[in-house]
Amino acid sequence: MLSARMTLGWLAGGLLSLGLLGCDKKQAAPAANTAATTPAKPEAAKTEAAKPESAKSESAPAAAPSGKAIVIGHFGSLTGSEATFGQSTSNGIRLAIKEVNAKGGVLGKPIELKEYDTRGDAGEAKLAVERLVKSDKVTAVLGEVASKLSLAAGPVCQEAGVPMITPSSTNPKVTEIGDYIFRVCFIDPFQGLAGAKFARENLKAGKAAVLVDQAQAYAVGLAEQFELNFTRMGGTIATKQNYTGGAQDFTSQLTSIRSAGADVIYIPGYYTDVGNIAIQARRLGITKPMLGGDGWDSDQLAKIAGDAIEGSYYTNHYAPDQPDARVQEFIKAYRAEFGGATPDGLAALGYDAAKILFESMERAKSTDGKPVRDAIAATKDFLGVTGKITIDANRNATKSAVVVEMAGNPPMPTYVTTVEAQ
Ligand code: PHE
Repeated sequence: MLSARMTLGWLAGGLLSLGLLGCDKKQAAPAANTAATTPAKPEAAKTEAAKPESAKSESAPAAAPSGKAIVIGHFGSLTGSEATFGQSTSNGIRLAIKEVNAKGGVLGKPIELKEYDTRGDAGEAKLAVERLVKSDKVTAVLGEVASKLSLAAGPVCQEAGVPMITPSSTNPKVTEIGDYIFRVCFIDPFQGLAGAKFARENLKAGKAAVLVDQAQAYAVGLAEQFELNFTRMGGTIATKQNYTGGAQDFTSQLTSIRSAGADVIYIPGYYTDVGNIAIQARRLGITKPMLGGDGWDSDQLAKIAGDAIEGSYYTNHYAPDQPDARVQEFIKAYRAEFGGATPDGLAALGYDAAKILFESMERAKSTDGKPVRDAIAATKDFLGVTGKITIDANRNATKSAVVVEMAGNPPMPTYVTTVEAQ
């Protein structure tokens, strides 16, 4: 089930763009409705997602930027078990578009968004980006969240010479696809280090168990980096267990973890599985804290797991209760736009990625692939909601991470500490 809070927020974005655009309701409404009410079935996803009718367009020429719109693309999981990833990212991007259009657009032109649902599927992700690049002829592409899907679709942008910025894929291989592929988040060698450091220094853990979604490049890579750093810091890995995303029964893995006697259980997966794992772990009498990565970042985690997730931690890009003025201003604008919803890290990263793209086009004084690519590559000290962003020679961003605790009733991500960039 989608959360009422995020669904409302996401729908509000869609409806708002309808209002501003006066665009054909028949076109945009089904996409929003489908996303809000229908849990995606991977079999049903084939070819549907990338149809132009399901695209939602947005332009908000409030301050009357003139001329032909600059069309940018977003591909994301708007439905499926990672639905909040795409919805939040979409919201962040839409807020950035609304703000820039209200100030006269980019290069004097309004920004228009084309968006397709990947439904969390690698094949759909590739189709969606082919559609964006070949049919919609977008200037640049934003997405995906899940590293596996960015890895599946990135080569399409690279071959077409269309810049792609993933707001949030943290697996190192994503930007290795080529010189048109960027990210505005940190990478998993750092996130794994941050998790290990927190486990050793803050939780004083000597023994860790690791539970990995073997079907996700993100989880496999992050687990490796956690283990590497945790053992380097003097800890031991008591046991490593695997699962495949979407699994329902984790009893055998959790029973092995229970007998291994770990002080902390590292679970670098996505929120739907983590929620189910947490419930089953507590039922089996495992009381040790769980620790994860950014893949936990969804208001659905607490909705699924309830109390079972209380007292567990994850590394992330942003915490909504950080006192930072830029963070608080963003939260205020986001709440006003999306029915009071609190933005998660994905929304913040989507917002930052879109703003960096707009700023790069201004600096490039062009919307052509190569000059825009060169301008994104030259991004330096951009003050984002998720921190100060400088794109390095490998098209990655070096940034600090935060650790949040799922605290309170219901458990909410609560800022604990910052791990500085290395
Ligand atoms: N970092 C995850 C990945 O690469 C995606 C993610 C980012 C999920 C931020 C939640 C929050 O797959």
